[in-house]
Parts: sequence; C-alpha cells; structure tokens
Amino acid sequence: MSHSILQALGLGEVQSGTYLGHGEWSRTTDAGELAPVNPATGEVIARVYASSAADYERILERAQAAFEVWRTTPAPRRGEAIRLCGEALRRHKSALGSLVALEMGKIKPEGDGEVQEMIDVADLALGQSRMLYGYTMHSERPGHRMYEQWHPLGLVGIISAFNFPVAVWSWNAFIAAVCGDISIWKPSPKTPLSAIAALKICNEALKDGGFPDLFFLFNDAGDTLAQRFVDDTRIPLISFTGSTRVGRLVGERVARRMGRSLLELGGNNAIILDETADLKLAIPAIVFGAVGTAGQRCTTTRRLIVHASILDEVTQKLVAAYQQVENRIGDPTDPATLMGPLNSAAAVEAYRAAIAQATAAGGKVLTGGKVLDDRKGFFVQPTIIAGLDHTHPVVQTETFAPILYVMPFHTLDESIAMQNAVPQGLSSAIFTQNLKAAERFLSATGSDCGIANVNIGTSGAEIGGAFGGEKETGGGRESGSDAWKAYMRRQTNTINYSDALPLAQGIKFDL
Ligand code: UN1
Repeated sequence: MSHSILQALGLGEVQSGTYLGHGEWSRTTDAGELAPVNPATGEVIARVYASSAADYERILERAQAAFEVWRTTPAPRRGEAIRLCGEALRRHKSALGSLVALEMGKIKPEGDGEVQEMIDVADLALGQSRMLYGYTMHSERPGHRMYEQWHPLGLVGIISAFNFPVAVWSWNAFIAAVCGDISIWKPSPKTPLSAIAALKICNEALKDGGFPDLFFLFNDAGDTLAQRFVDDTRIPLISFTGSTRVGRLVGERVARRMGRSLLELGGNNAIILDETADLKLAIPAIVFGAVGTAGQRCTTTRRLIVHASILDEVTQKLVAAYQQVENRIGDPTDPATLMGPLNSAAAVEAYRAAIAQATAAGGKVLTGGKVLDDRKGFFVQPTIIAGLDHTHPVVQTETFAPILYVMPFHTLDESIAMQNAVPQGLSSAIFTQNLKAAERFLSATGSDCGIANVNIGTSGAEIGGAFGGEKETGGGRESGSDAWKAYMRRQTNTINYSDALPLAQGIKFDL
C-alpha cells in the first residue's frame, strides 16, 4: 500500500531530502536520516537522507543567484509560473492527497482537501500577480508626486509543521513567488516525503514551462541547520508554523538580526453556543472542528462555551455524534474512516497526560478518554470533558489531540470573556440567531482572535482571507487579503518635477 502511494509520485524507499536547484537532488548520505512513520501502523514508510552543511550553503548560493533573475521577471509572468504549479497539482491531487494521508495520518478527503488548498492558493497567487498595488499620495508640495511601490523581498525561509505538510508551504511559497521571491523550505521531520513529492510536482511544472528554480528544500536530521537558517542574514523573512514554544524562539532569534518573521503558532479555539443556536448547524460544526484531523489543526475546536439552558441537550447530542465517529476510527487511507490516528507516540502521550490532568482536577469524561492500544499505530478516542473551570491550566493549553472541554455560561458578556481568556488568539465562532449577539461577538469588544465566525465552526478557513491570529498565536497573516505584503518590501517615492525645492513641513532653509 505505502509502496504504491510512493511509486505513484515517483518516490523510492530511500530518498534524498535536499533539492539543490538546477534539477539536482543532493547525493549526501552522511548527514543523518529521517524515518517518517505511518501513524496508522507505527512502521517506517521510507528513509530520507538529511542535508549537510555544504548542501545548505549550495542552496543559499543558488537561491541568491535565482533571486537576481526572478526579481526582474514581470510579476504577471511570475503568476504564469504558479499557474503551471496549480495545473500540475490538479493532475496529482489524489496521489499527493494519499501520501499526505499516509504520512501525516489525516483522512484521505482531508489529504485531498489540503492539495485543493494548494490549487486554490495557486489561483489566488496568479490573480495577485497582477494586483501588487501600492498607493499614490497627494504631495503637500507643488510640482511633486508621491507614491509607493512594492519590491521583491529576497529569500523567504519556510518552516512548516507536520499537520499541514504541503498546504502551508504553498500559502507561503506561491504568494512569495509571485512577489518575486525565492523560497527555501524546511518541512517537519515527521513529513519529509509529502514535502519532497510536492516540491517535485511543482519543480517539474516549472521546468516544463521554461521557468527557473523558485523553490528549494532541505531536511535537517537534528536542528543545527534549522538554527543556522533562522539566524541567516541572507534570508530577510522566516515564516514559521508550529508550536508557540518554538515560535517564540524563532521570533526572538529573527528579531535579533532585524529580520522579519511571520509566525503561525498555537490556537485554543472556542465555539460559543447561545440559547438561540441552531443545533442542526452547530453540532456537525463542533464535531468536525474538534474531531477533524484528529484534533491536530491549529484551528481545531478545543473549547465549547454553551449557554447553561441548553447544556444538557447539547452534550447529549454531541456524545451521540462522537459515538458514531468512534465506530469509524481507522486507517486514514480507507474511505470509510472518519478519524485517523494521532501523528506520533509523543502525541498519544500528550493526550493521555491532558486527560489525566483534567480528571485529577475533577473534570468528567463524557465520552472517549482512552488510548486505543489494542491495535498498532497511534489511535485515541475523541474525547469530551466537562466540569473544569475555564481558567484551569489544561484548558488554557493547546493539546494537539481531539479533546474538547465543555463549559457553561449565563450571559453573552461572560461567554466572550471566557472565549478571550486564553493566551492564544487564532480562531473563534459563535452560533446564534440573535443579530445583536452576532454583531457584538464580531465587534471591537467581541472576540480577540484573528478569525471570528458566525454560524460556522473554527476550522476549515478559506484561503481567500488572511489566515493567522493574535497573542501567542504570533500575529502573522498568510494566504489571502493583503497577506502578500509580508513577502515584499515597501518603498515610498517622492518625485519633484518643478523648478523649485520646497521643503516639507513648511521649513525655510535659506542658503
Ligand atoms: C493549520 O492547522 O495549521 O482552517 C492550518 C483550517 C485550514 C488551515 C489550518 N484551512 O483548518
């Protein structure tokens, strides 16, 4: 099975993890290995040779040379390159979606959905390539013109997480490419094969279209190269997706060298159900948000804040829905499966520890709570826990697993205060049929998150919006809206076409 999925993408069971440019994959075999595991079985899928320091230097040199050329290529032509990547991904959608399912452990429709996000971002980037707009301003001086323009930034470093092993790269790399940048990717050590496959698909499309290298890739056996990457002054922007703990280190290190960082870190996303909530919409949204991707999205619903008057009804319906999911936990590549495994043994331990901590504090497990250790792989039950205060440390923490904490409220103010009272600020939602409550939730005194939704859940954001969050989520925005600006440098230009030299602010300086 795993063999045929690899084969369909031209991958072997021993693989170079370094794309050096010029169509060349590194032959390095002595810089360590990565051994990505199938989370459904615990077995190693393939071996990936990690990159050496010399490989890293070669990538940097070639990426710098590529940027010299790419930055002068007209932006709409750059869009054409990404259009070809999108076309190639359309052709390989099912094969790459299967590899994502195999290596990350998300179910096949979610693996395919992730590739669809890449295709959608490619379309967005193509359009964006003709819309890298700057403002013009009216100068306060006669005979002067003022405007701003957006120039390519340079090399963009992308460090992505295991949970979206290919889509997050494309959000960054495709937009960066139309902005005139060259990107260098360090994927999660847990999902190097998905990264290699995605890069191959795109690089072949670029080559066939007569385009130069835009995307480079390295894999680090430890963290030596990753550290060098973060500190590398040749890379003006590091885009990092992952935990708040590591993101904080990355942000500090990049700031020290006056680089830019774009951080997409943890979420602790809540759904509020008020007393008017339409449960036909709310229940499936909660189940998808909490259980989808086995609770391993940064937008996963982790907290449910329910009006006390409907708490019993909501929990009964959820428990019934969870039991249906429980019967369909299994191999993520099987179309009947609704929930796959966690990605690693460490994730199973984090799940176990959070449940132990919650129950020790008086939390009541309404459904789930167990590791499915009667089988191979990293399977757990989707879990709902009630009875904890919203300030409890386990509720305040993002545990990357399908655990939902349910808490009652009485007033809208109280529900919004609870929703906001966590260190993270990524995604949030309210289910209500009350216009005032909806508008209040979206107002300046409502949700403090980067994403706030009404009558849809916290996960499954579309690429057209700017994706990201506040507080410990890191403040970065990626993908749609004007997120492209992070990948360019802004220049303000003033041109004097008069015969005089008037100074700004009315200053006189008579020589
Ligand atoms: C992530 O979990 O890293 O909103 C990103 C969603 C996806 C992206 C999640 N479009 O669930």
